[in-house]
Amino acid sequence: MAKKEFQRPDGRKPDELRPIKAKVGVVPNADGSAMFSTGDTIAIAAVYGPKKMHPQHQQNPEKAILRCNYNMISFSVADRIRPGPSRRSMEISKITEWALEPVLMLENYPNMVIDVHINIIQADAGTRCAGINAASMALAHAGIPMRGIVSSVSVGKLDKQLVVDLNKAEEDWEEGEGATDIPISMTSDGKITHFQLDGKINNEQVQEAIRMAREACKKIYEIQKEALKEFLTENEGGKNG
Ligand code: CDP
Repeated sequence: MAKKEFQRPDGRKPDELRPIKAKVGVVPNADGSAMFSTGDTIAIAAVYGPKKMHPQHQQNPEKAILRCNYNMISFSVADRIRPGPSRRSMEISKITEWALEPVLMLENYPNMVIDVHINIIQADAGTRCAGINAASMALAHAGIPMRGIVSSVSVGKLDKQLVVDLNKAEEDWEEGEGATDIPISMTSDGKITHFQLDGKINNEQVQEAIRMAREACKKIYEIQKEALKEFLTENEGGKNG
């Protein structure tokens, strides 16, 4: 009997991302902002700063501090989420800082702080990656000097099959070995700035997951770059015309 072919719940190919939308300049009062959505996951990032860090004892005389705040809004999922910080949101905020810091020239702004507020308006898995993608674009839009853009995607293992950009139904996969979730962020020249792993996977498959993330991040980078270019052509002469 022929082996049953693996089917993703939404019929995507293993290396197929969900439909992506990206837009820059979505929060007029912020210094920089962007929206990034993949399928039903929608993230909005707003950047404020660089501005003087207060209280003063938190200042770093050598570089600016990147302060990210990841938040899932209460009605972003079917079960209402209790407002305010949680262990999960604090962890994701920290990870977002670590994923983005390597490309930011923070040394240009001693004693300052750059605040990045990431709101997940709607969640269907992959929110930390969508948040990082939006934040990266928003920082570029704010004019913060950067060595490159960071792109982020989650690679998953559903039973034994590797796939990119898991949705919630896939994250909850229970057949066979269940689901392994591997969010990965990288620069446009392929340097990994963030790697997490939730589940079990062997060494070879990790290498394959990284290869798949590289291909997916290339596609995401092109979309981020297009959105930034689109904003620049629509607003020649800078953010405020
Ligand atoms: O969103 P991401 O995959 O980065 O992080 P996760 O902690 O693995 O969460 C996966 C998904 O679970 C989220 O995207 C939401 O769709 C859902 N979730 C939820 O319904 N309620 C929560 N309190 C946290 C997550």
